[in-house]
Amino acid sequence: MWEYTDKLKDHFFNPRNVGEIEEPDGVGEVGSLACGDALKLTFKLDEKGKIKDAKFKTFGCASAIATSSVLTEMIKGLSLEEAARVTNKDIADYLGGLPEQKMHCSVMGREALEAAIENYRSGGRKKHELEGNIICTCFGVTDKEIERVIRENNLTTVEEVTNYCKAGGGCGGCQGEIEKIIEKIHGDKVEEVSVSVPRRVSKLTNIQKIQLIQQTINEQIRPALRAHGGNIELIDVEGDKVTVAFRGMCAQCRVAEFTMKDLVEAKLKEFVSGELFVEEDKDSANQPHNHRG
Ligand code: FES
Repeated sequence: MWEYTDKLKDHFFNPRNVGEIEEPDGVGEVGSLACGDALKLTFKLDEKGKIKDAKFKTFGCASAIATSSVLTEMIKGLSLEEAARVTNKDIADYLGGLPEQKMHCSVMGREALEAAIENYRSGGRKKHELEGNIICTCFGVTDKEIERVIRENNLTTVEEVTNYCKAGGGCGGCQGEIEKIIEKIHGDKVEEVSVSVPRRVSKLTNIQKIQLIQQTINEQIRPALRAHGGNIELIDVEGDKVTVAFRGMCAQCRVAEFTMKDLVEAKLKEFVSGELFVEEDKDSANQPHNHRG
């Protein structure tokens, strides 16, 4: 049996704002009856652009009804910018908490609100569209949605992801993919930490320093240069002097010196050591080369 708060029970037994607004300014429809939960949210704006009325229709459990009801109360009086900042956690908190297994109801509320705002901003043309690639075919959940609930709620297990968006809670065939997404997101965080940690270490060995310089080039500098058709190679490290060569568009670029100071040296100072300075190896800049990294 789930533990429900008094506020949740109140909104379940006495739901507010049930129904559909006639000639609404925004309409958001998410979920589907086939998946067991569906929510339609409609709102009307006043002359100042604030939400003056909101109603909902839902098909779902007690938590779906209570979260939808409370959402309509939360957003009344808000501007669209303010409403767009409402998170699924805000909805759950407003109810005094939700059972973990029911957090997906709060996510459905946030999605319906976003869809309704988007529908208004597109002049009524846009309906809720799934972004990304479907990972869970049982519940029609995409990789983008899974990534978002993981990041916003700091989820670390497949079970938690299922609680928040249902993905993985049917046949279980997508659980391996969900696990990979969790690993990717938390792996990124681990890498970010591993880059920043040595910055606080007073003494790096030469090997550590060179590895960290290469890592910073790969992760912080090269992606920015590649976006403009360029590239960079690490040529040498002697003491605090780092020699690099620009490749591709960057090799002919007249603002290379600026790029050197502004991007390359700044990033290396930030992520490796404030003592580093960078020089360009002009001799190798125009030689044939392989794009690495
Ligand atoms: S495909 Fe995700 S649970 Fe079946």
